[in-house]
Amino acid sequence: MAHAEAYKDPGTPDEQSRRTFMANAVIALGGVISLGIAIPVVASLLPAAGTDTDQWSGLTPQQAEAFKKATNQPVKVVFDVHDVNGYFGAIDVEQFVWAVKSTDEQLRSERPELFATEKPPYPVLNMGFVIFSPICPHLGCKYAWNQAQNKFICPCHGSVYSELGKHEAGPALRGLDPLPMRNYQGKVQITWIEYAQNSPQLIVQKVG
Ligand code: FES
Repeated sequence: MAHAEAYKDPGTPDEQSRRTFMANAVIALGGVISLGIAIPVVASLLPAAGTDTDQWSGLTPQQAEAFKKATNQPVKVVFDVHDVNGYFGAIDVEQFVWAVKSTDEQLRSERPELFATEKPPYPVLNMGFVIFSPICPHLGCKYAWNQAQNKFICPCHGSVYSELGKHEAGPALRGLDPLPMRNYQGKVQITWIEYAQNSPQLIVQKVG
């Protein structure tokens, strides 16, 4: 058989089922390897809670005050992330997060995945708040709080999330991403993390 013709030959039923088995085995092995890599990478990239690394961005007293306004509604908290890049060197970049007041019980009941085996490797509830990245986990637009509907809504493709970030409608594959926050020596600090978009899992792309 000519070389080009060989590609068109489907082979015997035995050969076909052997190829299907090998293809499935490769896909399954790839899944196991990527899961095995993703979890240690998440853990190793993130800052330890008790350490003072520059991956923690401090809030000014005024910015920290904004948390106190979060009673029944999510509050947008603006702060500066210390960033280093090849063009400008070290710069402070203004970012914001959403602070939502919650109890442990409420959060566990609405977002059980944040407490399951593949949960983020940091506590998601701190000082009575969960802090959400403003980046929509679908394709990265900035969603906003819609007070009339009591939901977070993304303007780009219409993903809808509950107040505690549960995915309720639209194309996103997971709920809103919680970020680490701590009270360190009397100062409120947050770590900026960007997770992979359009994935059901939390895969770290960038820290700080
Ligand atoms: S980027 Fe938010 S729904 Fe697509």
